[in-house]
Amino acid sequence: MNAGTETLRLVRSVADMEEAREDLRRSGATVGFVPTMGFLHEGHATLLRRARSESDFVVLSIFVNPKQFDRGSDLERYPRDEERDLAVARAEDTDLVFLPEVDDLYPEGFATSVEVSGLTDVLCGSEASRGAGHFRGVTTVVSLLLNLVDPDVAYFGQKDAQQAAVISRMASDLRFRSRISVVPTVREADGLALSSRNSRLNDEGRLRAGIVPASLERAREVALGEGVPAGIEAGLAVLREGGLEPEYFEARNIEDLTEVTEADDGEWMFAVAVEVDGVRLIDNLPVNTGGEEEAA
Ligand code: PAJ
Repeated sequence: MNAGTETLRLVRSVADMEEAREDLRRSGATVGFVPTMGFLHEGHATLLRRARSESDFVVLSIFVNPKQFDRGSDLERYPRDEERDLAVARAEDTDLVFLPEVDDLYPEGFATSVEVSGLTDVLCGSEASRGAGHFRGVTTVVSLLLNLVDPDVAYFGQKDAQQAAVISRMASDLRFRSRISVVPTVREADGLALSSRNSRLNDEGRLRAGIVPASLERAREVALGEGVPAGIEAGLAVLREGGLEPEYFEARNIEDLTEVTEADDGEWMFAVAVEVDGVRLIDNLPVNTGGEEEAA
């Protein structure tokens, strides 16, 4: 509604967000929503741009969700910069930024969690990794935010492929009104996927981090000629040559995250999680084998 103007409305309380949502409903504007944890970069900006081009009114939320951090120390270390985030929001012509407080979103007595099973047990949800509790925190907060903002479309990044799959499943199972839209990963010149965590890499770590997307590219190349298991081996070899040992390096279906063993198994991806100099990075590379996706 404010497209082309400089107005950016800041909403810090749940009650004010509910009021803003009522006004929006009455106005009949279509709403695009980008939930984030702040420390915005070009990946987030791309989601905002997509929302801007597809909706009358764009809502951004910034909330570092304690429920999705398994370790308190990780939560405390999460980078924050509200002023810079608001500058990004303004530059992308956002209409409203929702910045709730923890105690307001999760008041005393809050006792509900939303859990998607199956999809949350693999990759980052396995016990050897972050555990399913991480995704329980994500789906709980995203449900809450979708109810508060009630957008027509909510935008998520392919960068967090498992998160996107889990949220899509949840929105479909629970019949959320909002459509979930997944936006391709935005990368640096050397292929490294943009992430708020990249700011924790030192110079040497930043250089080494480029090996992660290179391993995925190599895996795809080999898999398309020699099959999926050979692709995985090739990807692992690239990482190991660079002195990196991944938490996982797997081929999975993009939607239901089941394991993929054949290169013609529909739409799937290589997904990797690896610690680079103390910073845990995740990335994935979709592999379209059928070539019929464009029709959708
Ligand atoms: P956050 O890590 O801030 O990411 C917000 C959104 O930006 C997510 O949908 C994420 O997939 C997307 N994103 C991050 N890096 C990207 C990149 N390089 N290219 C494209 N999109 C990218 O993900 C979360 O926050 C939280 O879990 C949240 C969904 C907000 C729930 O708390």
